[in-house]
Amino acid sequence: MSLVKANLQMIADKPSRSDSVLRSSTTTKDEFDLLSCKYDSWYESAKGRMYDRLEKKAIGRYLPSSANGKRLLEVGCGTGHWSRFFSEYGFEVTGVDTSERMINIARNKNIPNTSFQIADGHHLPFKNGSFNITAAITALEFVSDAEAVIREMIRCTRQPRGQLLVGVLNAQARLNRNRKQRPDSLYAKARLFSPSRLKQLLEPFGQLAMVTAGFVPNQKLFLPLAPLFDTVGRFFHIPYGAFIAAEVKL
Ligand SMILES: C[S@@+](CC[C@H](N)C(=O)[O-])C[C@H]1O[C@@H](n2cnc3c(N)ncnc32)[C@H](O)[C@@H]1O
Repeated sequence: MSLVKANLQMIADKPSRSDSVLRSSTTTKDEFDLLSCKYDSWYESAKGRMYDRLEKKAIGRYLPSSANGKRLLEVGCGTGHWSRFFSEYGFEVTGVDTSERMINIARNKNIPNTSFQIADGHHLPFKNGSFNITAAITALEFVSDAEAVIREMIRCTRQPRGQLLVGVLNAQARLNRNRKQRPDSLYAKARLFSPSRLKQLLEPFGQLAMVTAGFVPNQKLFLPLAPLFDTVGRFFHIPYGAFIAAEVKL
């Protein structure tokens, strides 16, 4: 057990600084507009594809067995990468984002059963309880008040039996700490979450379940082993994977 932990720690590494130290002002709408045209290139790289696969598996754990036309709101949908995943799963998807260029790219993908609009997660233009599920995937790190956005998402979610789905970048993962240190990176100003910080944020709102995923080795040669590392990391509840998936049952 300790050997397994030690090896997974080498992949994801322990934090040297607390996530409060990593806080700074957020990435602006203009910065997202500028980055929009190259945003999807991450998902096209071998490493990006592997992270994506593991992140979708982690979020997939919390999806209902049948979507059956249920309505899902995705806050901070960006270029619609995850909106497509939710749509293919069977949801009627509404994606919102503050970046007009991100929304334009998402719209141009013509994803079935999906509509996109410009809106701010702090002030969602929907009536109370409009959606069965509200989701935010790697978006809360970039908003100015994550708690306010979560409250707004919950307001828009059907209660009881609604669901909140959150995916965030783990402050304790080496990949994310390295990303933050690159001044030209999209993530330089992201407010990353540790598992305990995310738990603290979401627990007051309902029944919380969380899993850490994304134990991807740095060396290309070992990339195919990532799903195995991921299974081991999840099994032993090792908190250093690059992505945290969470569900709150309302
Ligand atoms: C890192 S991207 C994630 C995009 C997408 N969810 C994905 O995982 O591919 C973060 C997105 O959040 C959006 N965003 C930032 N602040 C926002 C806010 N207050 N309301 C809505 N979207 C916001 C950004 O414009 C950007 O598209």
